[in-house]
Amino acid sequence: MLKIKDINVYYGNIHALKGVSLDIQAGEIVTLIGANGAGKSTLLKTISGLLKPKSGEILFEGEHLAGKVPQTIVKRGISQVPEGRRVFANMSVEENLELGAYLRKDKSGIQEDFQKVYQLFPRLHERLKQQSGTLSGGEQQMLAMGRALMARPRLLLLDEPSMGLAPLLVKTIFRIIEEINQTGTTILLVEQNANMALSIADRAYVIETGKIVASGTAEELGESDQIRNAYLGGH
Ligand SMILES: Nc1ncnc2c1ncn2[C@@H]1O[C@H](COP(=O)(O)OP(=O)(O)O)[C@@H](O)[C@H]1O
Ligand SMILES: [Mg+2]
Repeated sequence: MLKIKDINVYYGNIHALKGVSLDIQAGEIVTLIGANGAGKSTLLKTISGLLKPKSGEILFEGEHLAGKVPQTIVKRGISQVPEGRRVFANMSVEENLELGAYLRKDKSGIQEDFQKVYQLFPRLHERLKQQSGTLSGGEQQMLAMGRALMARPRLLLLDEPSMGLAPLLVKTIFRIIEEINQTGTTILLVEQNANMALSIADRAYVIETGKIVASGTAEELGESDQIRNAYLGGH
């Protein structure tokens, strides 16, 4: 579904992604794990069109995406849930969800997706008129995910959804990610919480200072001593 071939991304002189290649098959949950500053968000922003690679290719369902504007990429079927949620704090829950569908014209499809989002996140349905800035961190994460789903993506990019959440809520969010995947949405999940990410992923990549240093099935990486010592607290 997605094929990234040897991309290089820079911020000025900083070489943030160094020849990164990665593949995602339709239906998978793929996780990208790595420490703070490794280049995880840079990779998601490059897929979404917020950053342009200096070289390399990004193919989505056979079409070249590198260099396309973010709106085009959303229309092709890729949505991103950004790091730190970034909901529109002064707008209501409902208005934030509506914004997720702003590139769509299929009114009945949009109504269906509102219902799907309410099923996945009953908490959002209870708070439709509430100002988003007054939601808890977990509810804001749900809203950011709901907003991304309102674009009806076939590939959903999630940037550290567990960040700053209490363990119980992290479990809830991961359960919902699995549920979204089971309804047919392919997922690229970026996490520092490697344990949780590997527990739901089919395959994983490890990124260190802009380079992919390991990849395999989630099971293989979870059993690797090197990965366990570096990312799983040695357990
Ligand atoms: N806007 C920016 N300008 C300059 N350097 C940046 C910018 N954003 C990120 N970087 C640098 O690029 C590298 C990768 O950052 P990032 O992709 O945010 O890492 P991660 O998401 O894995 O924590 C880091 O060294 C970071 O300091
Ligand atoms: Mg990041």
